[in-house]
Amino acid sequence: MQVVAVPGLPRIDHTSNLAELIHHATITWPDGTSGLHDGDVVVITSKIVSKVEGNVVASDNRDELIDQESVRTLATKHHARGTTRIVETHHGLVMAAAGIDASNVDAGTVVLLPKDCDASARRIRQELQDLTGKRLGVIITDTMGRAWRNGLTDNAIGIAGLVALDDHTGKQDQFGRTLEMTVIAIADEIASAADLVKGKSVGNPVAVVRGMDQFVTDEDGPGAAPLIRAREEDLFWLGTAEAIQEGQKTAVANRRTVRRFTAAPVIDEIIHEAIAAAITAPAPHHSTPWRFLVLRNEPKREQLLDAMREKWIADLKATSEFDDESITKRLARGDLLRTAPVIVIPFIDMADGTHTYPDDARNAAERDMFMVAGGAAVENLLVSLAAHDVGSAWIGSTIFCPDTVRAVLDLSESLQPLGAIAIGYADSPAKDREPRNPPDFILE
Ligand SMILES: Cc1cc2nc3c(=O)[nH]c(=O)nc-3n(C[C@H](O)[C@H](O)[C@H](O)COP(=O)(O)O)c2cc1C
Repeated sequence: MQVVAVPGLPRIDHTSNLAELIHHATITWPDGTSGLHDGDVVVITSKIVSKVEGNVVASDNRDELIDQESVRTLATKHHARGTTRIVETHHGLVMAAAGIDASNVDAGTVVLLPKDCDASARRIRQELQDLTGKRLGVIITDTMGRAWRNGLTDNAIGIAGLVALDDHTGKQDQFGRTLEMTVIAIADEIASAADLVKGKSVGNPVAVVRGMDQFVTDEDGPGAAPLIRAREEDLFWLGTAEAIQEGQKTAVANRRTVRRFTAAPVIDEIIHEAIAAAITAPAPHHSTPWRFLVLRNEPKREQLLDAMREKWIADLKATSEFDDESITKRLARGDLLRTAPVIVIPFIDMADGTHTYPDDARNAAERDMFMVAGGAAVENLLVSLAAHDVGSAWIGSTIFCPDTVRAVLDLSESLQPLGAIAIGYADSPAKDREPRNPPDFILE
């Protein structure tokens, strides 16, 4: 492989013809040959393509220009020199400041990226092939920063007549193992190799790479599009700070009651993390009165639910409002706690930190206060589960039969159950909820 710069190009502006200039330049190779050969790849800095295409604008409002050139902002970083915005351009490229460049241009102006980099590459290729009669590949490059690694590299943002990705999937390595994920960004590698001779300050905006002819194609091909990772496959489609903020903003609203679960199990780590979130709730008197019982397929779960069911039937029968049919219907609603992959029963331990008063009114208020702290903990737990995409339904039933719960589970009198939470992965997404209007909830 050989890489040489195209020397002696004049200052490029909108009157320049790049193909003509490259064709007439004196390109000399280490082996003494000159000019372009079949299979050469001509690598052109996007900035001069933009200059030829008249994509140079006044730099009055850089932020507005970035907005105009981008479809979304992934990350914003404030630092001593100002603010850097990493955006996705309308081409689908993710880069700082939408690739707007103020270096090597007249003061007061900046260069935007070419509007359609593949179209520019195809046009230049056609002209160069017509002039030289050779079969060439053309890459238009821009310099980009990288997630995880310091330092800039040149990348292919426009391509004609060259394979962008060299897919080794299914081939065998030297030890006979089948490669499963190896797809080489060949056009980016060629772009970077060319940059080694182009250089930023030397001012050679074009280089030619020889020896990569196995990747040069007759057709113009799909351009640089194959190099862009689809958003749904991109694990990093948002900056870290932005992703955290988005999570914080949406976590609470993402919790919805889920009443139908798949059979997929919910691992202990997720349940423990949810309990960890629960026990960060506020509580009176600096107390920590929360307790949780986690039940999966233990016989106790059936026993408890059977006992609660008996108690409920007895309660319903005790009032004449309910006939057998409506009792059966009501009981069916409790099935969720039998079928969910896991249930958590939250409790408040009234022996942990409560104050005792001489009068009933204050003791009742104290109890309310601890129940409220229990509610806060349960909400934390549900929100944490939702953050893991785990669904939950907080079912109130154990609140109505605390004695039964304590008797079956052999628990202390001081433990007050706060319902039971059915937990699992949602069978289908929750229906959208009508937005609620905060002022409607604010008392005047
Ligand atoms: C203390 C409490 C008890 C609840 N009990 C039940 C219940 O017994 N059965 C049920 O299906 N949902 C129960 N829910 C869930 C509510 O019905 C649910 O939160 C409400 O419909 C709003 O829906 P969302 O949670 O998706 O916002 C209970 C919720 C709370 C806070």
